[in-house]
Amino acid sequence: MCGIVGCILKDEKAAPVLLDCVKKLEYRGYDSIGIATSSSKINIKKEKGKISEAEKKVGLSDLPGNMGIAHVRWATHGIPTRKNAHPHTDCTEKIAVVHNGIIENYNELKHQLIEEGHIFKSDTDTEVIPHLIEKYMSNGMDLESSVRNSLDQIHGSYALAVISTDEPEKIVGVRKESPLIVGKGEGKYFLASDVPAILKHTDNVIYLEDGEMVILDKSGVTVKNMLGEIIEKEIHIIEWTPDMAEKGGFDHFMIKEIHEQPGAVRDTLLESQDIEKIVSEFGDIERICFVACGTSYHASLIGKYLFESLMGLPTDVILASEFKYSAKAMNDKTLVIFISQSGETADTLKALRMAKKTSETLVVVNVLGSTATREAKHVIYTRAGPEIGVAATKTYVSQLTCIYILAAHMSNRLDLVDDLHKVPQYMSDVLANEEHIHNIAKKYKDVPDFFFIGRGLSYPTALEGALKLKEITYIHGEGYAAGELKHGPLALIDDGVPVVAVVPPGNSHDKTLSNVEEVRARGAHVISVGSQDDEILKSESHDLMGMDGEIDEIMSPISYIVPLQLFAYYISVEKGIDPDKPKNLAKCVTVE
Ligand code: AGP
Repeated sequence: MCGIVGCILKDEKAAPVLLDCVKKLEYRGYDSIGIATSSSKINIKKEKGKISEAEKKVGLSDLPGNMGIAHVRWATHGIPTRKNAHPHTDCTEKIAVVHNGIIENYNELKHQLIEEGHIFKSDTDTEVIPHLIEKYMSNGMDLESSVRNSLDQIHGSYALAVISTDEPEKIVGVRKESPLIVGKGEGKYFLASDVPAILKHTDNVIYLEDGEMVILDKSGVTVKNMLGEIIEKEIHIIEWTPDMAEKGGFDHFMIKEIHEQPGAVRDTLLESQDIEKIVSEFGDIERICFVACGTSYHASLIGKYLFESLMGLPTDVILASEFKYSAKAMNDKTLVIFISQSGETADTLKALRMAKKTSETLVVVNVLGSTATREAKHVIYTRAGPEIGVAATKTYVSQLTCIYILAAHMSNRLDLVDDLHKVPQYMSDVLANEEHIHNIAKKYKDVPDFFFIGRGLSYPTALEGALKLKEITYIHGEGYAAGELKHGPLALIDDGVPVVAVVPPGNSHDKTLSNVEEVRARGAHVISVGSQDDEILKSESHDLMGMDGEIDEIMSPISYIVPLQLFAYYISVEKGIDPDKPKNLAKCVTVE
């Protein structure tokens, strides 16, 4: 996590541009913000908290110089304070560094540097980097070689940007296991953790690989390997427009992205032919194993139900952070499918690197050029466009769309692809009726605990509904397979405890309804998501989030999640929480 930016401009002041760029990365972390520019000296402004708060306090863009670096932090080492905010400097204050990642051996390096006389000002792991660079530069090495030598001593992950007054007008960037891209504009050059940060200035982007270093100066951009040899890199033209990463009249990115979901499903459906081609390239598969985290894990669970019910193909779903304990069970007859909106999640990348040693790998990913796309054998892109809200919404429904298309082609059930074309309309119907869900949200906003239940394909929907609630409202929400409640959690059901039940018409309907009756009998308040024509469900529910009665169970997950996203969003808004930047979270988790 954390977001970094660097830029070298011709005549313009760098600080306002850096500030604007780093605002686009705030989804990566918002514990603190900092900017350093280089003129005759290093000028730094940094402050704890979100950018808007820090800007009011210390006026971040008021710095001289037309080159510099900036950072938004998601704290790992050292609590979120001004002193722990990046950029970090060396003892002489001539070198400044911004860092995304973790230095695993920082304790050992810090003690060594302190013994050598270096004075540390923060509790971060990052601060060892400027001190190491200082050590090499004071021995007469140039900035580039000093960065290289420092990194030789560091174990861990990093995307770095470094400046020094001894070599003004130069930024050195380098990456290992944390994302870093380079932007080549007209007489202005950038580096950043992610493309939306620089889209306003250029759509010409270079994706750096692990172990690559970039040197930006007034004359342009040079990419080198860790031996200092120049590497030719391809320039990619980005199709996303800057507007796609703006709020477009909505109060928050999250609600804008919820509204973009019908379009995201439609655009992702355009991938059907590419997916068919990928399916034709698969070897002999006897087992599928999905690997993912968070919301992407929930999308994977839906994949399990589809693959097993349509093809009888044994399918497992493993949390990426737990994959190493199952890695030995993979073989060349296992297709391992990684689901990740960012393609940069550290747990997922670690698992991918392990799985590709034995098995065929496929990633379903939203971010073009992200690390996962370069590591896996096959890549399917979800066409959700940039997602800025920390809570995943449109990327989730796009992932589901890809998984459905994949299952349809693998099982030869192409009627499912036809049915997918109806889903955007089902979603639009819910969005047209969002005020109804807003009103339900108002009723329940002060309740401390929720249960979410569903069976079969609706069980992952219940889990995802509960995750959305937890993430953006800070209310405890627990998702359960409806039939599992009676094996323990039923003890927690009491008068007025809200139970959100996902009950589409179909095979699981009657059994879930029995579970609804069980909780009602114990005083629960039932909020159901089901067909608007389902009179029995209506009579069993205190509140119904009604869906088009035509939606059959197999297609229900993609549209049935929409009311639950809206429910969480409106509770968040009613509680005065910023749903785009929930506390303690970040969009992309690049630490294990
Ligand atoms: C979703 O709302 C969360 N922000 C989080 O659970 C996320 O899905 C998870 O970190 C995985 O991210 P990825 O899809 O980018 O790999």
